Amino acid sequence: MPATLYVLNGPNLNLLGQRQPEIYGRATLADIETACREQAAAFALDLDFRQTNQEGTLIDWLHEADGAAAGVVLNPGAYTHTSIALFDAIRALSVPVVEVHLSNIYAREAFRHHSYVSPVALGVICGFGAQGYVLAVTALAQQRPAS
Ligand code: DQA
Repeated sequence: MPATLYVLNGPNLNLLGQRQPEIYGRATLADIETACREQAAAFALDLDFRQTNQEGTLIDWLHEADGAAAGVVLNPGAYTHTSIALFDAIRALSVPVVEVHLSNIYAREAFRHHSYVSPVALGVICGFGAQGYVLAVTALAQQRPAS
């Protein structure tokens, strides 16, 4: 199995740090990338960290992850709540996907309570801010068979 984790971020997550900090915190996406890299390195894993505002690009990256990554940490942003295409893409993958949200989507507006990703994710982490990404990297690293 390749020793790389993908961390894929969807729309508007490039604005972290300035976007509704009372909900999403003050950490920037670059800060989150640094924290993920440190945690992955502790498990001797490489990290490929990306962000896009395009739904189709997220899907292309998920396809690419199959065969290239040992697992995927995915924060799909608002596409979580709208994208059957994401559901289908993840369903077709053979690598595990951990869904992450900075905020607790179940404590927010009703339209955020449904996720198309959760039924096809290995697990879901939400409400722990930037730490959720580190928890997801840890979970995926520990899913790997011992070498
Ligand atoms: C989010 C939650 C989504 O509902 C929202 O659309 C986002 C960010 C989160 O990380 O809390 O863009 O995925």
